Amino acid sequence: MTLSHSMLAIEISSPGGPDVLQPTSVPVPVPGHGQIIIRVAYAGVNRPDALQRAGAYAPPPSASPLPGLECSGTVVEVGPGVTRWKIGDQVCALLPGGGYAEYVATPEAHALPIPSGVSLKEAACLPETCFTVWSNVVMRGGLRGGERFLVHGGTSGIGTTAIQIAHALGARVFATAGSDEKCQVCRDLGAEAAFNYRETDFVAEMKGFGGANLILDMVGGPYIERNFKALADGGRLVQIAFLQGAKITLNLAELMTRRLVLTGSTLRPQSDLAKAKIAKAVEENIWPMIERGAVKVVMDSEYDLPDAPAAHWRIESGGHVGKIVLRVNP
Ligand SMILES: NC(=O)c1ccc[n+]([C@@H]2O[C@H](COP(=O)([O-])OP(=O)(O)OC[C@H]3O[C@@H](n4cnc5c(N)ncnc54)[C@H](OP(=O)(O)O)[C@@H]3O)[C@@H](O)[C@H]2O)c1
Repeated sequence: MTLSHSMLAIEISSPGGPDVLQPTSVPVPVPGHGQIIIRVAYAGVNRPDALQRAGAYAPPPSASPLPGLECSGTVVEVGPGVTRWKIGDQVCALLPGGGYAEYVATPEAHALPIPSGVSLKEAACLPETCFTVWSNVVMRGGLRGGERFLVHGGTSGIGTTAIQIAHALGARVFATAGSDEKCQVCRDLGAEAAFNYRETDFVAEMKGFGGANLILDMVGGPYIERNFKALADGGRLVQIAFLQGAKITLNLAELMTRRLVLTGSTLRPQSDLAKAKIAKAVEENIWPMIERGAVKVVMDSEYDLPDAPAAHWRIESGGHVGKIVLRVNP
């Protein structure tokens, strides 16, 4: 197959609201050593894309400036040193950026096979959330079966994935969300209880269950002190974002007296090798959960690639439940 030299992509014309996402024509990427080129079928839309668009989340220096952290599609070119994939293979992949485009380059070790029984549309929604949840909840947070696990933003892309994976691991799962309807979705996905944070104090609720052994938090700000209080002795708090701010005044005495652990990570700036290790763990652990039906993609909506601004308005509305995708070359 001969690739054309240029392709349709969505660029961030300048930092700002969803309407700064503009169609453009850019060169088709060329695979470097160990990289594959994927003809994108669907591209997942994630909150970090909206942060990047607004100028609040710069891509790492070597990454494509185009938004888009995950996709599904077909391998159309392989670079030198690629051993696992061949032209024509269908994959889904974590991307360093550039997913809002017809073609994208990524290290071969960041691509995974499409799990059996999963469509290309659903597969585009898996990499960013599965890599983030597994690396933070299991590799960093050390969640074990029987532990009490609380995730905030339970109906986000991350939240819907975290609830199901933790449930499949045998943890007791709890979630917060911004409405009763969203709380019901969390329970349907496997949460033992879900708390509408606009009406209920999750700290008191979690204390009633004995406190959380692990909390996955994306809210930050005033939630950090409240999370400490919601943890059981020896509990772990993992931060993956700070939607309500990263700068706070905090009394850390509890960290010492109750042996709490505060940690966190962000996926994108990690080395290719670190992401490859996460990819291997995701394929070994989450893919079997998906294939036996224990973990499903919760799909909110889909848009054509040129309608990327509408997809961003949707994610910023906060009305969505689960994942949003862009149709590129379905
Ligand atoms: N560290 C990493 O590597 C990494 C990777 C991917 C994503 N993330 C972060 O993880 C979060 C979820 O990502 P996503 O793509 O799944 O996004 P998403 O679907 O847009 O989810 C964001 C969720 O946060 C909740 N929320 C928004 N503003 C809030 C506020 N001010 N206070 C309390 N809750 C609020 C919303 O739930 P309600 O409507 O229920 O309030 C919403 O469900 C984002 O913050 C993202 O930046 C981190």
